[in-house]
Amino acid sequence: MWSFLLRAFMVLYIPLPPPLPLWRPYNPNFEESTNREEEEEGEANGNHEEVPVGEHDDDRVLVIDGKLQSAESDEFIYHESLVHPALLLHHSPKTVFIMGGGEGSTAREVLKHRDIEKAVMCDIDRVVVEFCRSHLTANEAAFNDERLQIVFNDAKAELESRRDYQNEKFDVIIGDLGDPLEGGPCNHLYTKSFYGNVIKPILNHRGIFVTQAGPAGILTHKDIFTTIYNTLIHVFNYVIAYTAHVPSYADSCGWVLASAEPLNLNVEEIESRIRDRITGELRYLDAAFIVSSTVLNKTLRTSLLNETHIYTEENARFIHGCGVFNNNSSDV
Ligand SMILES: *[C@@H]1O[C@H](CO)[C@@H](O)[C@H](O)[C@H]1NC(C)=O
Ligand SMILES: *[C@@H]1O[C@H](CO)[C@@H](O)[C@H](O)[C@H]1NC(C)=O
Ligand SMILES: *[C@@H]1O[C@H](CO)[C@@H](O)[C@H](O)[C@H]1NC(C)=O
Ligand SMILES: *[C@@H]1O[C@H](CO)[C@@H](O)[C@H](O)[C@H]1NC(C)=O
Repeated sequence: MWSFLLRAFMVLYIPLPPPLPLWRPYNPNFEESTNREEEEEGEANGNHEEVPVGEHDDDRVLVIDGKLQSAESDEFIYHESLVHPALLLHHSPKTVFIMGGGEGSTAREVLKHRDIEKAVMCDIDRVVVEFCRSHLTANEAAFNDERLQIVFNDAKAELESRRDYQNEKFDVIIGDLGDPLEGGPCNHLYTKSFYGNVIKPILNHRGIFVTQAGPAGILTHKDIFTTIYNTLIHVFNYVIAYTAHVPSYADSCGWVLASAEPLNLNVEEIESRIRDRITGELRYLDAAFIVSSTVLNKTLRTSLLNETHIYTEENARFIHGCGVFNNNSSDV
C-alpha cells in the first residue's frame, strides 16, 4: 500500500516554531530532490519553512520541523503501539479524542475498532492534514470515514471548549504529539496541570489516556520518557509505560498509558477483544506482545522509578528528540 505513494520528493511550506533544527539526511542513499512543489500556506503563523517528504531507499518519510515523523515501511509499529493498547484495555471504547495525529495513521488504527462511534482528530496544522489527506492513500479510508471529525485547533483549547460548552467526555484520549521541544508547539500538552485539569476530568469513568513519550532507548530514555511517566503518576493512579523498537527512528520509542481505574493486562482478555473488536489484521501487536511490551528492562525501570522531575509550565525539559535527522554516522 505505502509503496504506491509518491516516489518523488515534495516540499511543503508549513508553519515552524523557531529555531529550526538542522535537517540532514543520515543515510547516504537519501537523495535530495530538486523538484519542489509549493503548497498552500498554514494558518498558525507566517513563519514557513520547507518540509520535505523524502525518499529513503524504497521508503518514504515525512519530516516536519526537521524531525522524522513517519516512514511508510514501519509507521505501523508506532501507530499500532500508540493506539491499540489503550483501546483494548478499555472495557468498551466508543469515543476517542486524538491530539495531533494529522497524518491520519492514528485515526486509521482507531477506526479499525468497529465499536468506535466518534473519533475527533484535533491537529493545529491544517497544511499537514490536507497534504496527508491527499497523498497518503493508506489513510484515505480513515479520512473519509464518517465517524472521523477533523478539527484544526490547539488540543488544549479544543478540549477545554468541549468540556465547558458541550459537556463532552471521551473514553480514550490519545496524544500523538511532537516531543516537547524548546519553543515547540506541544509543551503545554505534557504538563501536570494539563493532565490533571484538562485530560483527567474530560475522560469518562474508566477512561484511558495514552501519549507518545519520546525516545526510550538505553541512551535516550531519560530525555523525556521518564519525566512524562513521572508526571503522569502524579495525576493518575494507574500508569503503564511500554516501548517498541522503531527502525526508522533508529531507536526505541516509548508510550505512557494512564487511568484513574485499574488496568487489567490479561492476555486472554486482550486476545478476545482483538478478535471481537478489530476489523482487519494488526501487523505488529498481538495480546501477548502488548503485555510483554510493558515489561521494561532494569535500566529503564530503575530510571522510571528514580525520576523526580515533573513537567510544569515553568519547568520543562527540552530535547531534540527521537528521529532528528543528522549527518553523524556514529548516531545511525
Ligand atoms: C556528512 O558531512 C560530511 C562533512 O560535513 C560530508 O563530507 C558528507 O558528505 C556528509 N554526508 C552526507 C550523507 O550528507
Ligand atoms: C532496554 O529497553 C529499551 C526499551 O525497550 C531498549 O531500547 C533497550 O535496547 C533495552 N536494553 C537492552 C540491553 O536490551
Ligand atoms: C537516582 O537519582 C539520584 C538523584 O538524581 C542519582 O544520584 C542516582 O544515581 C540515581 N540512581 C540510579 C540508579 O539511576
Ligand atoms: C556525532 O555524535 C557523537 C556521539 O554522539 C558526538 O560525540 C559528536 O560530537 C557528533 N558529531 C557531530 C558533528 O554532531
